Amino acid sequence: MKILITGGAGFIGSNLANKLSKEHSITIVDDLSMGSRNNISKLPNIVFYEKSVLDVEFMKDLLVNENFEYIFHLAAVASVADSIERPLETNQINFMSTLIILNILKDMKTNSLKRMVFASSAAVYGDDVILPKTEVSPVKPITPYAIDKYAAERYVLAYNNLYGIPTSCVRFFNVFGPNQNSSSPYSGVISIIIDKFEKKINNEISEFNLYGDGEQSRDFVYIEDVINAIEIVACSDDSLGEVYNVGTGRETTLNRLIEIISSILNTSINIEVLEEREGDIRNSVCSIEKLKSIGYRPQYTVDEGLKNYIKYLNIEGN
Ligand code: NAD
Ligand code: UD1
Repeated sequence: MKILITGGAGFIGSNLANKLSKEHSITIVDDLSMGSRNNISKLPNIVFYEKSVLDVEFMKDLLVNENFEYIFHLAAVASVADSIERPLETNQINFMSTLIILNILKDMKTNSLKRMVFASSAAVYGDDVILPKTEVSPVKPITPYAIDKYAAERYVLAYNNLYGIPTSCVRFFNVFGPNQNSSSPYSGVISIIIDKFEKKINNEISEFNLYGDGEQSRDFVYIEDVINAIEIVACSDDSLGEVYNVGTGRETTLNRLIEIISSILNTSINIEVLEEREGDIRNSVCSIEKLKSIGYRPQYTVDEGLKNYIKYLNIEGN
């Protein structure tokens, strides 16, 4: 199989490449704005282009010449907070890149595409208080990131209906695990918290900035479950033109998360409480019934995922 992963040097993309490169030939396009070569440097069967997916001529040549069977479009600025800082710039990658790819696919004379899977987000549901979110829950995107993801989703599905481009969307909830970049204030919260614990254990100065009271909750899902979900959606006939939540169905607050990590590592971290972030969602958890109907079974609880992640990072607790 010939497979394209955009954003493949990033967190989710590199884990997907890791799994798929054992059996298939993988092309990755990533501008390394957030991803890293190290995430993919040891993988077999990888062709890597350090390019932006917004480079239309490059993408056109690539898609026409390679005629991929599967495309996983993951390239994005994944931070909600960053999209609030830079709405115009992030709109290009979070929305426009998707339309560019779809349109090239539409105009191709021959097309071997079996499925394009687009990485959407739980953020599309916004701050509506009714939980858990199902795929038919009201959609109320409240940040540039969420608006871009929802608009891109609608195009992805419309190109399936109007032009017969085989597509599906996945709405990831809060994914965590190996290869998540912890070095930016815009990184996913679990990678940041664990980094602070690691620094504390190494006697370095560190403090976790907690935005709000810590009672905000998320559906934290371990990367291995997410990779399985992506594969199931890509290969199922029923998922054509459909949207799926990807999570665990369980909700965990930040305070509880810090407690769990504290108890795994038998130590604590310094916490500075700051004001809640603008555009932050208070509570988020999904129903995974639709995904289960095509064969998904989550394997990890948050605790188990955290233990695996900490083991992978080789952090010795006290
Ligand atoms: P990530 O930042 O690790 O990966 C995104 C990758 O896209 C990075 O490697 C980055 O360098 C690359 N990229 C950014 N702009 C690019 C451009 N113009 N051209 C080429 N590459 C570019 O983030 P992630 O957590 O792996 O997220 C992957 C996808 O899943 C994103 O679309 C994100 O919005 C979505 N998502 C992630 C989560 C999560 O919890 N991590 C949840 C919901 C949705
Ligand atoms: C995350 C993903 C986003 C995805 C969404 C789906 C990242 C960077 N963001 O956004 O791509 O679409 O899930 O639900 O992967 N926080 C702190 N201190 C910090 C960092 C964060 O207190 O240093 C708080 C935030 O204010 C928020 C919570 O932790 O309340 C989670 O933040 P974050 O990991 O950025 O996730 P989301 O905003 O949910």
